[in-house]
Amino acid sequence: MALPLPHLLWGNADCVELARTFGTPLYVMDESMIRARCAEVRSAFLEKWPATTACYASKAFLTKTMARMVCQEGLGLDVVSGGELHTALAADFPPSRIELHGNAKSERELRAALSAGVGRVIVDGVMELELLAALAAETGRKADILIRVAPGVNPHTHAHIVTGHTGSKFGLPIEGELLESAVKFALASPGLALKGFHFHIGSQIFENSSHVEAVGRIAALAARLKTRLGFEAEELNLGGGFGVGKLPDFSHSPHSPDKNVPSESHVPLHLFTDAMMEALTRECRARGLARPAVAIEPGRWIVAEAGITLYAVETIKRLPGVTYVGVDGGMPDNPRPSLYQAAYEGVVANKISAPAAEKATIAGKCCETGDILVESIALPPVERGDIVAIFNTGAYNFSMASNYNRLPRPAVVLVKDGRADVVVARQTHDDLLRGDAIPDRMR
Ligand code: LLP
Repeated sequence: MALPLPHLLWGNADCVELARTFGTPLYVMDESMIRARCAEVRSAFLEKWPATTACYASKAFLTKTMARMVCQEGLGLDVVSGGELHTALAADFPPSRIELHGNAKSERELRAALSAGVGRVIVDGVMELELLAALAAETGRKADILIRVAPGVNPHTHAHIVTGHTGSKFGLPIEGELLESAVKFALASPGLALKGFHFHIGSQIFENSSHVEAVGRIAALAARLKTRLGFEAEELNLGGGFGVGKLPDFSHSPHSPDKNVPSESHVPLHLFTDAMMEALTRECRARGLARPAVAIEPGRWIVAEAGITLYAVETIKRLPGVTYVGVDGGMPDNPRPSLYQAAYEGVVANKISAPAAEKATIAGKCCETGDILVESIALPPVERGDIVAIFNTGAYNFSMASNYNRLPRPAVVLVKDGRADVVVARQTHDDLLRGDAIPDRMR
């Protein structure tokens, strides 16, 4: 009798069991891997360099449980909307460790930030600066702010996720009159305390050269403003953007899920942070500036590898030249392949030790030719009912999910030491009808 094939384990939980218990598609997040990344932020950055802070960029993945873990791990939280702020506050995240971002913040979002007492507002433009100053005066609250600048660098990444180039919709150009007049305005506003500047040059970046270049430019800005306005920046926020490959890295994880699971070493945080801190220290020394306090905002780097998505195989179609494995999710739970041509890797969770038999394309179930999750991947013989696991879906999958084709959003399960907890329930078809009303005149 043939022995049963080993199953993929995630956080020591059997993925086939998870799929059976919680249904598919299913987002599965390994708590230990998230905490290991946070620990690396502490050891490689916070403990190594004095006067530093780190905020997790919650747009990558945010639930109340995630906010709770980030808080326990001693990081701050970057939020970019009223919804992210509300989620953080609902998880009792300390407001003083929250920073509010956004290039088109509403008055309501600014009021919510002021009344919660968030630690920093990262102001993106002149109109926002004026509005925030007025709201601070009206409410009698003081806002500690950074002004976001576009340093004019072009990192090597997908065009849709470059953010600090000249002409960006984010921040104020680092060169020119606009920024200087914004600084003067902030300094003259009693309700605003200008602490310094922020940049975020883009996302999914694997080399540190653009970050280092941006550091040089922001140091030059600080020196220029000191000379021209007598303003000394106390704080610089150097953003996030640190890249993650296609396969998880288990070397820092307390337990490797399985020897049959392919692994890849991750980009260490210090590749970016050491280079930026060394450059900043050098630049400040050369320009006669005291080195300001420094913050970073990693998002993807903290959560991407911790997450997998489980799908059930619904159908297999063998055509001349291509085999399609059709699964029960797709672009609504992972829009990244269609938005950024993002590449993923996966395995058949119930056949991880079986040798590869053919190349197949894993197709999503949406009515779009572009709804392909993985192009041409080597898989063992696949059958209907198999469970496919796609790796490194922990960042920007759940957070960017939609209900396209009226597909309910998958549940999110947090796994640790073989235990699984639902941290976000699966949507039902009735959830899709919440708020959906037929006008009386059509009754
Ligand atoms: N800070 C700011 C101000 C940001 O705008 C972002 C991301 C981050 C930090 C975190 O970047 P990360 O470390 O995660 O690269 N949806 C795209 C990514 C968009 C990122 C937008 N901003 C994707 O799925 O690739």
